[in-house]
Amino acid sequence: MRRAVCPGSFDPVTNGHTDIIERASRMFDEVIVAVLINESKVGLFTVDERMEMLREVTKEYGNVRVDSFRGLLVDFCRANDARVVVKGLRAVSDFDYELQMAQMNHGLAGVETLFMPTNPRYSFLASSLVKEIAKWGGDVTAHVPEVVAARLAVRLRDHGSR
Ligand code: PNS
Repeated sequence: MRRAVCPGSFDPVTNGHTDIIERASRMFDEVIVAVLINESKVGLFTVDERMEMLREVTKEYGNVRVDSFRGLLVDFCRANDARVVVKGLRAVSDFDYELQMAQMNHGLAGVETLFMPTNPRYSFLASSLVKEIAKWGGDVTAHVPEVVAARLAVRLRDHGSR
């Protein structure tokens, strides 16, 4: 089985992420969307919440499942019998760090990285920008799935930030 991993923080998932996940799902038998559990960084959403949103927005793709991992990505890949990581590249500025990680992951465990050019519609999109716009009452509905926009509104209202 050709299985790929789409890793990330996904705090929260954006339309840019779903575009990459959907395209990857057409190239592989199975795609695992893997949310990093990063104990040293507090997110706006918990890992469970991020996974819930990812499950909701990927449920129409029959071959995508959502999981989480801590530690090294290559260990997660090995444990799941996945030899390929799929990453979206928005711009040349993404490339430096992504190349470094890809080469390291290949050296560590022979895991290949497939870079997929982001759809130009999403080349400026980032979860951090979405959170900032939403925090100040801006409209993010063009940039994130509906379920995410709704959750952002509730979360930021609960935090008293708007
Ligand atoms: O969405 P992000 O935050 O850009 O995703 C980064 C992620 C999760 C893909 C990257 O930080 C990662 O793979 N972390 C796991 C730890 C790891 O394997 N580090 C060594 C990379 S060479």
